[in-house]
Amino acid sequence: MVYLTRRERFNAAHKLWVKAWSKKKNKAVFGKCANKNWHGHNYELFVTVKGTPDPLTGFVMDAKELSTIIKREISSHLDHRNLNLDVKFIPKDIQPTTENLVILIWKQLAPHIKNCKLHSIRLHETENIYAEYFGE
Ligand code: NI
Repeated sequence: MVYLTRRERFNAAHKLWVKAWSKKKNKAVFGKCANKNWHGHNYELFVTVKGTPDPLTGFVMDAKELSTIIKREISSHLDHRNLNLDVKFIPKDIQPTTENLVILIWKQLAPHIKNCKLHSIRLHETENIYAEYFGE
């Protein structure tokens, strides 16, 4: 089994906030992500697929095609958007955390990966924090 990873980048704004909590508690739990008028992240998305290299092309999957699918299904919907308000596949009643985003991105992307399998979605929110999802 060979694992192939494609990276795509996007920039987006969000706000993490629990309405039932005080301003003080929201700031304490979510820090900068609780900023009143949103704040942004330069996200890095790593999509890994797995399979056996094709005998003719040597590809598990055409990385250009994978890029096209990620851009069409994911980054074009997220890039320069407000993740709380603008994105159809992000429910309005969940926190747009990196942890929730990897699950939603998996669900959005998985049906479009043909002839090999989606292995993981890894999303970097900062250079020190990322979340990873393997479909369960
Ligand atoms: Ni944030």
